[in-house]
Amino acid sequence: MAKKTQATWGGRFAEGPAALMLKFSESASFDRRLAPFDVAGSKAHSSMLAHVGLITAGECRAIHAGLDAILRDIEAGRFVWDDRLEDVHMNIEHALTRRVPAASKLHTARSRNDQVATDMRLFIKHACAVLGAKVQSVQKALLGAARRNRDVLIPGYTHLQRAQPVSAAHHLFAWLEMLERDRARLAEVSQKANECPLGSGAIAGTTLRIDREYVAKALGFVDSRGRPRVTQNSMDAVADRDVFIEFAAACALLGVHFSRIAEDLILWSSAEFKFVALPDAFCTGSSLMPQKRNPDSCELLRGKSARLQGNLHTLLALVKGLPMTYNRDLQEDKPPVFDSFDQSAICAEVLEATVKGMSFNRDRCAIAVADPALLATDLADYLVARGVPFRMAHYAVGAVVALAERKGCSIPALKTEEVRRLHAGFGPDWAKVFDLKRALAMRRGTGMPGPAQVARQFARWKKLLG
Ligand code: ARG
Repeated sequence: MAKKTQATWGGRFAEGPAALMLKFSESASFDRRLAPFDVAGSKAHSSMLAHVGLITAGECRAIHAGLDAILRDIEAGRFVWDDRLEDVHMNIEHALTRRVPAASKLHTARSRNDQVATDMRLFIKHACAVLGAKVQSVQKALLGAARRNRDVLIPGYTHLQRAQPVSAAHHLFAWLEMLERDRARLAEVSQKANECPLGSGAIAGTTLRIDREYVAKALGFVDSRGRPRVTQNSMDAVADRDVFIEFAAACALLGVHFSRIAEDLILWSSAEFKFVALPDAFCTGSSLMPQKRNPDSCELLRGKSARLQGNLHTLLALVKGLPMTYNRDLQEDKPPVFDSFDQSAICAEVLEATVKGMSFNRDRCAIAVADPALLATDLADYLVARGVPFRMAHYAVGAVVALAERKGCSIPALKTEEVRRLHAGFGPDWAKVFDLKRALAMRRGTGMPGPAQVARQFARWKKLLG
């Protein structure tokens, strides 16, 4: 038997890898977090090997017990990781071999190529579930803030210019919609990950009679009726990284949503707006300017979204020029996937805590939303209701706004004769339009910010979020 230069694949080598090569190529330092999934995969695989008679039931039991003990060691921080064993898969297999003689049969009909694809799909399914729950917690915090400020009205903005009045709840509900799509996207990614690659081997499956469906079932790769789902092409199964990319894309978009929410909060907490106060615990001071209270949690949410986009791009670039099928380049897929998960998760936690500690400044919101110009569109609608074509109404109200501006007064302070001179459609009741309550009550259609609709949305979100 040849001298062992490398425990797992050293048979055809005269010399082991250089220390520099080991340092360069090891992935155990980052893929060790796949250990729980790798152990689950190996347990399912060995159960299948026993099921089809390639190992005995006793060997299978010994392998399971050994894997359980190794996972306990890993979780307790007792496991000694060895760079020379490259990755999580070989570290675990090697440790198992030292404990259990039957471990040398574990890799029967398996390659690290289908093994790592399986581990990562299990990881992504787990990550989608965890992130989905965290996003839901953010939504619940937002719903809570909407409830506490049910009666607060604020200007809505387009082009960052005051546009029309909305309730603060309506604005927060817009964020809920964005995050609801993120949750749905994560659930879809989880479904895409829900196909078992094991049994694809290195590239072309195996000559041994294995039962792929058995493994898939054991690992929970099943449809809603419990039927096993397995990948359908052994070459694609070891080369495919689509679901990794889709996961990173879902995180990148979630990050963009977090960033847009954060940006609103940054603006709202500035002295210029002062609609909200963010919690001390999520702001920081300046090392120079004693008066400063900076919205750092929100700024970092904005910053992290760049990083999440970078991870997506790394994965896209990684796969772009690769020939079929597995290439070692693919080992570099893990850091961006893990980072997207970790950063999205902590972003969700920070946003939830920031929102929970945020309070609306009712006086400032009331002053801002009292700007009558916010109801200029309503005045045009008033003319339309009296038979004036919208384009003419728009023009006439524009002239009314300009007149008020020239006179340095608010729009409703203009005299009825003055506005009638600009358009005969204005009746004696024209200034009644400038009643916020009435203006909002008139916004009755689905998705509008009127109180009846907002009440409906409160009920809908309560039902959706539990
Ligand atoms: N650590 C490797 C990775 O993450 C596992 C697969 C290795 N396969 C191989 N043929 N060297 O991609």
